[in-house]
Amino acid sequence: MPPTIKRLGILTGGGDCPGLNAVIRAVAKTAILQYGIEIVGIEDGFQGLIEHRVRPLHLRDVESIVTRGGTILGSNNKANPSRYCTGRTETGEPIWEDVTDACLTTIRRERLDAVIVIGGDGTMACAAPIAAAGVNVIGVPKTIDNDLVGTEITFGFLTAVATATDALDRLHSTAESHRRVMVCEVMGRNAGWIALTAGVASGSDVILIPEIPFDLKKIADDIEKRMRGPRYAVVVVAEGAKPLGGSQVIGRYDPTSPDPIRFGGIGNLVATKLGELTGIETRTTVLGHTQRGGTPTAPDRILATNFGFHAMALIASGKRNRMVVRENNIFSDIDLFETVGKQRLVPIDHPLIAAARAIGTSFGDGAGSITPKPIPSALV
Ligand code: F6P
Repeated sequence: MPPTIKRLGILTGGGDCPGLNAVIRAVAKTAILQYGIEIVGIEDGFQGLIEHRVRPLHLRDVESIVTRGGTILGSNNKANPSRYCTGRTETGEPIWEDVTDACLTTIRRERLDAVIVIGGDGTMACAAPIAAAGVNVIGVPKTIDNDLVGTEITFGFLTAVATATDALDRLHSTAESHRRVMVCEVMGRNAGWIALTAGVASGSDVILIPEIPFDLKKIADDIEKRMRGPRYAVVVVAEGAKPLGGSQVIGRYDPTSPDPIRFGGIGNLVATKLGELTGIETRTTVLGHTQRGGTPTAPDRILATNFGFHAMALIASGKRNRMVVRENNIFSDIDLFETVGKQRLVPIDHPLIAAARAIGTSFGDGAGSITPKPIPSALV
């Protein structure tokens, strides 16, 4: 351990996800038990760093939290220090400020030698100016969307897939009983990893992801074919999926957020149009935040624990401004700044898409089987 590292801060940023507490526990226990480092929890993500709201973390604080959903520290997906909404307005428009200095003041006052930020692309982007100002920031990749660059997997994703798969399985049996088309909207803003993976796991008939714009008439044709056989169909649609030549459906707009747009509503739209085109009864289920809540699955607890341990190993080896990653099942790290402003989308020739097409799954584009590109990507 570099002698300079005596006190560490840790925060959870962005939308919560299962496994955050497992990372906090792994970091705190490794810091205290292996290196004798003091650890300080920053409350509510960057909001707590801006407002100097921190509390010491002792072993007793992280006892038994590996199974707990959410984050004991609280999180926030609106507080971006370099574009912070003051709450004041001018001619009706919100006033924004750069409050990075307030974060640096908290870090200096708390004598933090490094800060571990657990979050997605937005959190890494929020952390970059703080790292650029000279603070050692170590990132841990979190998001149910699984869309961070540099890592084949983020923790939280597999739990969300398990939740979505369970819901889709349940929709199958009721779809069959009533000979209906069941449309299920899952999360995934620009990346369709949850829809793709849960769709394949549940044997869904149609999978709609943002990376492959869909044609409703082609989906209707595929469903009509199914009506001649099993006579029911299950469609899984990512919230960010869009029709060919159309746009994503905005469900919510918050002008006081630096990330103001939330998608939502595509499930209803697809169900209504398919009902009109086929004359078959359709229903919509929106899984929403159920995918982010609750206890992490065993693989996510293990992934989160490994990420936390590796984050501490980076600090112990004196590395600066890195994000922990897993590639080809091996833990390593990349430059934190490299992650900013990028997203890892589903390659349209991903082997799982090829496998799904081969077994007759529709992606709403009318395409048949394709030859997969060899992409070493472990989804589980
Ligand atoms: O990025 C994670 C995520 O869960 C997305 O899948 C979803 O679009 C978004 O966050 C929802 O954010 P909020 O909790 O602000 O509604």
